[in-house]
Amino acid sequence: MALALVVLAAGEGKRMNSDLPKVLHRLAGAPLLWHALRAGAALEPDRVVVVTGAGAGAVAAAARAAEPGAAIVTQNERRGTADAVAAALPALAGFAGDVIVLYGDTPFLGPATLAELRAARARHDLVVLGFEAADPRGYGRLLGDGESLEGIVEEADATPEERAITLCNSGVICTDAARLAGLLPEIGRANARGEFYLTDIVARARARGLLAGVVRCPEEEALGINTRAELMAAERAFQARARAAAAADGVMMAAPETVIFAYDTAVGRDAILGPHVVFGPGVTVETGAEIRAFCHLEGCHVSRGAVVGPFARLRPGAELAEDVHVGNFVEVKNALLHEGAKANHLAYLGDAEVGARANIGAGSITCNYDGVGKHRTLIGAGAFIGSDTMLVAPVRVGAGAMTASGSVITADVPDGALAVARARQEVKPGFVARFLARLRAARAEPTRGEDG
Ligand code: UD1
Ligand code: CA
Repeated sequence: MALALVVLAAGEGKRMNSDLPKVLHRLAGAPLLWHALRAGAALEPDRVVVVTGAGAGAVAAAARAAEPGAAIVTQNERRGTADAVAAALPALAGFAGDVIVLYGDTPFLGPATLAELRAARARHDLVVLGFEAADPRGYGRLLGDGESLEGIVEEADATPEERAITLCNSGVICTDAARLAGLLPEIGRANARGEFYLTDIVARARARGLLAGVVRCPEEEALGINTRAELMAAERAFQARARAAAAADGVMMAAPETVIFAYDTAVGRDAILGPHVVFGPGVTVETGAEIRAFCHLEGCHVSRGAVVGPFARLRPGAELAEDVHVGNFVEVKNALLHEGAKANHLAYLGDAEVGARANIGAGSITCNYDGVGKHRTLIGAGAFIGSDTMLVAPVRVGAGAMTASGSVITADVPDGALAVARARQEVKPGFVARFLARLRAARAEPTRGEDG
């Protein structure tokens, strides 16, 4: 049967105390909405509809980045989750099949759980994903018995007895598109928050004699994020799982609790991560590579046998081939370092290509930006860049060439040549004493001693 996914992402997130729409807050380097969409994508839905509201433009852009085929609709006023689903209905015109609604602030739903939810539709007209909460505060409570569901009561509307229930609503429901469209208009807003609650759909379905059921999932998959504290707790949970997964994959970490992963970090077997290594999105570290303490990596690829850090920064487009060494206080951006190249101390390599086994001396930098455009620096295989060389791009240093320390290289250096581009040293024997005497005389004072 065909499947449509509706993702609600219209809340402005007042409780985050932020100008940023709630679903754009990042978890493990990606917006909450990205996580929700990726969870849904595992079901390979035929259609995806994202409901946006506050900050609609930015939310739509994030939705398209995660799911280019998604239809984006706008809920003009935040009137509740049922109203948000109603805003999605026009985008489902002509669609026949099941609809899964999930919330953009619920990032950890697993593919197996969603598949189970969908499979349960064979037994019920409407299925809700529930979970046993250690602390149910803030969640809707599920009313019913066993797998059968009678209704959902929101915390603000619950009696003390209902609040004692720990079986909670994850916010994910699955039902048939036609039923969804039929039941939504029956939902009113006579409740504590004055909102149209999607959760009321269960009671509406039961009133029509339809069967509603619960599928349970682990609490960590159902976490919904309303506050900064909850977002931080979710981040902690993500990191704990990512560290455990890396360890299981054969990654060594001396201080795993200090290593920060992103949603897509890929680290190979026998790689070593030192303390306080931070990964932004888009990093692959191959097997056997070593990232020493206090490095920051994003959008880069580190090959087998490479050694990075301590205190190095790899920015987007940094590509380190096998056995490359990038040492302390070295920054690499949009640069390819071929096999065995070394930049061991205090360097900046931006918009560059460094040949195999080339050596970049301490304090050398590519001057890649002229205030308007970025330019490339090409360094040949086996070249030796002397310490404190400024490579003013666009410029090319040939294979096996050398630059003298302190050179400002503005013109190409042929293969095998030495380029010296600095003032020639002059040595004046005995100069210092004569010079100081002249200065003292100029002050027109009798010179009484050595002090002055
Ligand atoms: C909701 C559920 C609650 C459940 C919890 C799970 C309702 C009424 N309550 O409560 O039973 O336990 O999620 O996390 O559904 N949104 C819109 N438009 C709106 C309102 C909300 O798009 O008008 C979106 C928000 O962006 C959010 C999601 O819907 O992603 C849920 O809204 P939120 O206000 O966070 O609901 P909760 O109070 O957490
Ligand atoms: Ca929520």
